[in-house]
Amino acid sequence: MSDAALTNSSIVANYRDKTPTSARLAEEAGALLPSGIAHDSRYIEPYGIYVEHAKGPRKWDVDGNEYVDFFGGHGALLLGHNNDAVVAAIHEAMDQGSHFGSNHPREVRWASLVSEMIPSAERVRFTSSGTESTHMALRLARAATGRNGLARLKTHFHGWHDHMTSGYANHFDGSATPGVLESVAEQVVLLPPGDIEAAKRLLAENDDIAALFVEPTGGSFGMIPLSADYLAALRDITAQHGVMLIFDEVITGFRVSPGGAQGHYGITPDMTTLAKIIAGGLPGGAVVGRRDIMDALDFAAARADGKEKIAHPGTFNANPVSAAAGIAALEIIQSTDACDKANATCETIRQGMNRVLVDRGIAWSVYGTFSGFHIFMNTQGREIRPDAFNPFDIPFEELKTKNGDVANKLRLAMLVEGVDLMSWPGGLVSATHGQDDIDRTVAAFDKALAMLRDEGEI
Ligand SMILES: Cc1ncc(COP(=O)(O)O)c(C=O)c1O
Repeated sequence: MSDAALTNSSIVANYRDKTPTSARLAEEAGALLPSGIAHDSRYIEPYGIYVEHAKGPRKWDVDGNEYVDFFGGHGALLLGHNNDAVVAAIHEAMDQGSHFGSNHPREVRWASLVSEMIPSAERVRFTSSGTESTHMALRLARAATGRNGLARLKTHFHGWHDHMTSGYANHFDGSATPGVLESVAEQVVLLPPGDIEAAKRLLAENDDIAALFVEPTGGSFGMIPLSADYLAALRDITAQHGVMLIFDEVITGFRVSPGGAQGHYGITPDMTTLAKIIAGGLPGGAVVGRRDIMDALDFAAARADGKEKIAHPGTFNANPVSAAAGIAALEIIQSTDACDKANATCETIRQGMNRVLVDRGIAWSVYGTFSGFHIFMNTQGREIRPDAFNPFDIPFEELKTKNGDVANKLRLAMLVEGVDLMSWPGGLVSATHGQDDIDRTVAAFDKALAMLRDEGEI
């Protein structure tokens, strides 16, 4: 936002009034941390809130303000903040030691849960993050196929290692982003999402594609949605051409259903990348997949195949405390209706927010699938009905385009009203969000829109 916009906005002034301690901390942080933050999607102007504690669907900042939280630990917290069973498991593990530098019983139980729940998980290798998981999945795909190239879908996010930087937020032409080698970017082919003919053409013409990565419910958890038919067709054509189909289920895993998106759709990829919910709110991830592919990580199998094993160290792989949290979370998700509950609550939130848009005569829409919601801000001024909006009718570029200043102000106005939206803007709903959270969110959205209207933004 421009300096003038920051100075002249009553939304910004109200936000500053409510959050003086966050402002002071942000100033200190700005002297040390680039932009004062540790993750790009926490960037908000003039500064973000500093949170002290959280429980269930709520969190409280250092000024004592309470928020309905839709960040959900960047999606890690399907069970909400500080789930009692998860916290107890963490304490128990912590008391036994945070790192043994050895195998430990919890990693075996953790892997068996992952394998029971995720259909493609014949073998499991734990990592420390989603980025590490997609990095290893790509390497495994190259080792399995002997090919170099990587196909990805525009707008899909797979972490921040060198092969994954173009084409999710910018550089849609596939060019290298700062610090990435052109020679790496050249190995990446970006496909238009949802266009099966483009994918077919690529695989027919290019016999050097090792893997095709996809966020199975669409870029940013359905912001740019994909159909089940498209996923099924991808399964067919990748199998036909010997290309490894990799579902990046870092968000969707254990969220869409206990078996992730693949469990929901009944489509099994060759490999799957996991993180977030898998570790119950602590750092952790995994790459899982077909045994013959994953055998490239196995000392004996690689030796028997006469192949050099793929090396995979990682100080915090299968950390015992993360394993404990992961086991506790996955056991609950496996044995309860937590995913369905979050999905149903999110549908009610989408409907409630759309009613507000209809009542106020604003041609935006709140859409999404499963436990995610996205706010379409209609930058092209289309004639749409908020409650009858079909994102499949809209080009992906437009779904992705935000009016940054209005989105920033909307998020500030929602914070003033006690709701923390994700930067999409939108949110991820947990199984702990209930009727009171729904009501507060819908009422906050109504007030936030009134504030934006007062400032001439809509
Ligand atoms: C689909 C997807 N893949 C990969 C990642 C990267 O995971 P991490 O942040 O754990 O590195 C994310 C993170 O948001 C993600 O949403």
